[in-house]
Amino acid sequence: MANKSGKKVVVIGTGAVGISYAFAVLNQALCDELVLIDLNEKRVSAEARDLRHGVLYAQSPIKVKQGDYSDCADADIVCICAGVPQKVGETRLDLIDNNLKVYHAVVSEVMKNHFNGIFLVATNPVDVLAYATWKFSGLPAERVIGSGTILDTARLCNCLGKAFGVAPVSVDAHMIGEHGDSVIAAWSTAYIAGVPLKDALDNLGNGAERMAEIHANVRDAAYSIIEGKGATYYGIAMGLARITQAILRNQNVVLTVSALLNGKYNQEDVYIGVPAVLNSDGIARVIEKPLDEQEQAQFEKSANILRGYQEKVAD
Ligand code: 2OP
Repeated sequence: MANKSGKKVVVIGTGAVGISYAFAVLNQALCDELVLIDLNEKRVSAEARDLRHGVLYAQSPIKVKQGDYSDCADADIVCICAGVPQKVGETRLDLIDNNLKVYHAVVSEVMKNHFNGIFLVATNPVDVLAYATWKFSGLPAERVIGSGTILDTARLCNCLGKAFGVAPVSVDAHMIGEHGDSVIAAWSTAYIAGVPLKDALDNLGNGAERMAEIHANVRDAAYSIIEGKGATYYGIAMGLARITQAILRNQNVVLTVSALLNGKYNQEDVYIGVPAVLNSDGIARVIEKPLDEQEQAQFEKSANILRGYQEKVAD
């Protein structure tokens, strides 16, 4: 602990997502120390040097280095991006067996080094791996956060912002549930400046069709990007950076992340995407949206799918 100066973020796994996140953290000057860990020593050393060359032009002189698991001891955030990504034709849930093994090894190493900060889980299937991280680490659930539907929500707000000619940030709408094929657009509580989006879409004509189309576009966005360029990484990196900012700057902002539910939304023992207040404690609280009957049924279905996969997680 003696060497620590300011806020420290450790990134485990410097593939496309991990390194894009590291770049976002550096570019937004979110911490004082940024540590990269990867099995591929040659690559991670090169990535650390490349990022360091950008420090002169960052907003603060962040210390960037290649590290090892001992760096987790005094880290504020450990963001895990390790594991295999989706390939064309695969769902996120298809990755579970491989990535669960990776997480077992990674989380054990982090905890052996007395980590006592906040885990940010980015690897897919992110909800199940957030649950696994919570189980493997023994940390309180508020300090294990999955990126959940942060990216789906961004995709939805982009799409709606474009449709209504407002900035995405002015759209108050959330994607909830699994970060995957059973994701739900919570239309009944979606607004722009207090105007219900359901009504606004209806006013454009064919409201139900438009909603179904937007939902499908958001749900399938990753598939189409993977088909085009092999992987997605900038969007998720920005979402992870936003969560990091909320934590390290104690912002109490509401973001859709994967959090443990024990009672809210009528669900028990499941990590799933929901709006939550994030601050320096991690998940300060989950916000229970007043879903309509159909959304609640879809949410229940999504939670059941995730609970099924969670059974693969042994302590
Ligand atoms: C995404 O939605 C693949 O989960 C990743 O972009």
